[in-house]
Amino acid sequence: MTRSIRPLVAGNWKMNGLKADLAIAAEVAKGYDAEFAGAVDLAICPPASLLYPTSVALIGSRIATGGQDCSTQASGAFTGEISAAMLADAGGTFAIVGHSERRTLHGESNATVKAKAEAAQKARIVPIVCVGETKDEREAGKALAMVKKQLRGSLPEGSTAATLVVAYEPVWAIGTGLTPTAADVAEMHEAIRTELARLLGKAAAAGVRLLYGGSVKPSNAAELMNVANVDGALVGGASLKAGDFLAIARACA
Ligand code: 13P
Repeated sequence: MTRSIRPLVAGNWKMNGLKADLAIAAEVAKGYDAEFAGAVDLAICPPASLLYPTSVALIGSRIATGGQDCSTQASGAFTGEISAAMLADAGGTFAIVGHSERRTLHGESNATVKAKAEAAQKARIVPIVCVGETKDEREAGKALAMVKKQLRGSLPEGSTAATLVVAYEPVWAIGTGLTPTAADVAEMHEAIRTELARLLGKAAAAGVRLLYGGSVKPSNAAELMNVANVDGALVGGASLKAGDFLAIARACA
């Protein structure tokens, strides 16, 4: 954790969730508001079909909502795309961009991710820009270099602590139950903070929240969240269980 930074725990539901699952959001809100709304920020990023109803279900709670992607474009003939303004209109305040599943399955380049992050900022949505190395890159000793390259290519110039969140998600740790050691996370997050200072200036870099993502669970959250320069988590599978998601938030608070 970074003492001066308020942690953020964001749940990425990915392509999971039907109307009945709004009950998960309601249950998270109940536990969150009762226990630690003062100590940690929470966000739920459901599939696009559930963004508006999730935002409505969370009215009265301090939990934020967000999208899992957004278009580089503001509007127009882009079938299947969702603009950042549409996310905002549906109550969202965050947009995950550059998730490894988008980079890999949809061929998104750093330039595309940057354009999406810029489009989000233009609509006053805070992009959660994801970066992370593959297993091969880690084993070849190239993890730090790859992530720095992604940061250089993906982050909008002029981003500040209020307009940007960065999530480090090692591709090989996503959905696998594997996690890097605390020492590896510490090394990476420090390198990210240093690179941010170079790209955005010291003041911005000191305040940008750096989330760790990849197989975060109640059983490992305390260890991962205690690492220096880890300011919260981006949670996949465990965010679909209210109890687990709250337990992870508790580890941050
Ligand atoms: P898991 O927590 O299921 O490993 O997913 C992480 C992730 O991709 C969040 O964006």
